Amino acid sequence: MTATKKESEIKNTENSTPSTLSDAPIGVFDSGVGGLTVVREIMRNLPNEKIVYFGDTARVPYGSKSQENVIRFSKQIIHFLRTQGVKAIVIACNTASALALDAVESDLDIPIIGVIKPGAHMAAKATHNKRVGVIGTESTIRSRTYDRFIQQQDPEIVVFGKACPLFVPLVEEGWLKDSVTEEVARRYLSELLRKDIDTLVLGCTHYPLIRSLVGKIAGDQVTLVNPAYETAQELRRLLEQEQLINTGENNKKDEMHQFYVSDAAEKFGEFANSILPYDVKRARKINIEEY
Ligand code: DGL
Repeated sequence: MTATKKESEIKNTENSTPSTLSDAPIGVFDSGVGGLTVVREIMRNLPNEKIVYFGDTARVPYGSKSQENVIRFSKQIIHFLRTQGVKAIVIACNTASALALDAVESDLDIPIIGVIKPGAHMAAKATHNKRVGVIGTESTIRSRTYDRFIQQQDPEIVVFGKACPLFVPLVEEGWLKDSVTEEVARRYLSELLRKDIDTLVLGCTHYPLIRSLVGKIAGDQVTLVNPAYETAQELRRLLEQEQLINTGENNKKDEMHQFYVSDAAEKFGEFANSILPYDVKRARKINIEEY
């Protein structure tokens, strides 16, 4: 399960020689396990699409890294995903979408989307009082990328950001409904809730997993926006527009999706199986620095 593979060994796997471009997989990447919340939405909403996922478990977290490094990591991962013959790429990581999407998209000849624009568009649609809160990693909040995309939709919307760095380790520890997580969430959210927001963006891959806890604290008057779900909808629109939707006719049901990581493949597999509607039989470890 954990054997390291080199590029030459990985090329020409079951996903790399599809009969038509529509049959090719979607490449999805994240700094680690969090992007599986996006994979889950893609599996639910686009069940015929094959996925090649890469989780950068050796270099997580991205949320406290410099933009220069997040761009470098993203370029390496995109290079790896291209070796898998992907037809489109989804940056499932909010931090990488905020810091690296602009830098990587110009070099690509296949479609690429991040999670921030779809989440921002829904937030602008959902708010009535034009006061939106965004929670995310330190880098995502500092970049103000959500603010930019929300205000592109409506310049009158006021955006309040709040970094919640403790949520990622708490979710990875599995403390989704724990009293400690609830106390931490109350502290983080109290400042935002005093701003009279009516919409709150869950701007980090891990936060949809504590959605019910956040919803309980925020109350019914606050609409929660899940960028993972919005991204799956955006992906569908993009594939339709580019005529890249997989009809599923040529799909092999066995190991339809492929999972790769840069470290701790076994732990990744366990987490994946706890949240995905799919049996992940193995995750393969690769040396991403080779790409
Ligand atoms: N995947 C990251 C994000 O959505 C959270 C974890 C990290 O900091 O790398 O921003």
